[in-house]
Amino acid sequence: MKSCKIAVIGATGAVGQVFLRIAEERNFPISDIRLCASERSVGKKLEFNSEEIEVELCTQKLLEEVDFTFISASSDVSKKIAPLAAACGSIAIDDSSVFRMDDTVPLVVPEVNPTDLISHKGIVSIPNCSTTPLVMILKPLMEASKIKRVIVDTYQSVTGTGSAALQELKDQSQDILSGNQIKVQEYPHQIAFNVLPHIEPFQGNGYTQEEMKMVYETRKILHNDNLMVSATCVRVPVPVSHSESIHIEFETAVTPDEAKKILLNKPGIKIVDDPYSNLYPMPIDASGSDDVLVGRIRKDVSHPNGIAIWISCDNLRKGAALNAIQIAETMMKQNIVKSTTWR
Ligand code: A2P
Repeated sequence: MKSCKIAVIGATGAVGQVFLRIAEERNFPISDIRLCASERSVGKKLEFNSEEIEVELCTQKLLEEVDFTFISASSDVSKKIAPLAAACGSIAIDDSSVFRMDDTVPLVVPEVNPTDLISHKGIVSIPNCSTTPLVMILKPLMEASKIKRVIVDTYQSVTGTGSAALQELKDQSQDILSGNQIKVQEYPHQIAFNVLPHIEPFQGNGYTQEEMKMVYETRKILHNDNLMVSATCVRVPVPVSHSESIHIEFETAVTPDEAKKILLNKPGIKIVDDPYSNLYPMPIDASGSDDVLVGRIRKDVSHPNGIAIWISCDNLRKGAALNAIQIAETMMKQNIVKSTTWR
């Protein structure tokens, strides 16, 4: 594979840091890497491949000099930088929700819809960290029978919010155990020793924005505007990795064995399913793993054509940084990075 020049916007953040470690692990072919963050981090040094690299501000000139611009900062940053990167001839791979539902922007999980990348116009979005593992399960299961309806309940870790939320979980836990007053800043309520059925603002229909993202993004990635999806997204006091309880209603009956057989050996999926030996996916096991862990595969006793599944997935890796790197790798293999930007 040829090598490329990249910029990481949000390099000091929870996803940015994991991005750097994954790029090292996978030997992502980089000839130059630029690390960007907010003004407060300028001059700070971050390690990459045993080299110290100084954090800088993102400028137009910098964007003109890189093939890929990975963005995981905030929606405002994405809004500004992604179109600018595309205009500068760099491909923006964006972790925000800003462009996900834009018809001109591919929304991609490489194991699921890699060919959507071909029509890119300089910006590619990665899905929400809960949508990615969901579609990785649904896509192969569509082989078994048409999927009519999906009900998904999420158990999302605090790093989905960012590094400040992780710190808040630690601080609140320590304060509560020491009998001290807690500070609540990142969420509407205490997150330590609690669960919050509230991720992002409530919409007029009673669902939250995060829940409706799961509906619309799943339909877009699976190219099925009629798929019925209902989500309840819950924040839990877990540092890393999101879990999901998924109920799938097929057009015709699918047995748990059939479902397991289909999911076995699919790239990015690992079956962990021996509940009678206490083996099932858990966030502590998913953390640091590239795979979506899948278990508790069983017949849904409430519906003749239903299957119930439990999954855990590292939200920082496959839910964000790994998916972004895999998109770039796929585009390089597909040879659809503009040739003029190759160095
Ligand atoms: P900084 O560390 O300088 O604030 P997290 O999701 O963990 O909260 O991280 C958010 C990331 O986005 C951090 O790397 C943060 O940098 C970065 N960031 C915030 N504002 C900007 C900005 N205006 N330009 C580039 N990066 C930004």
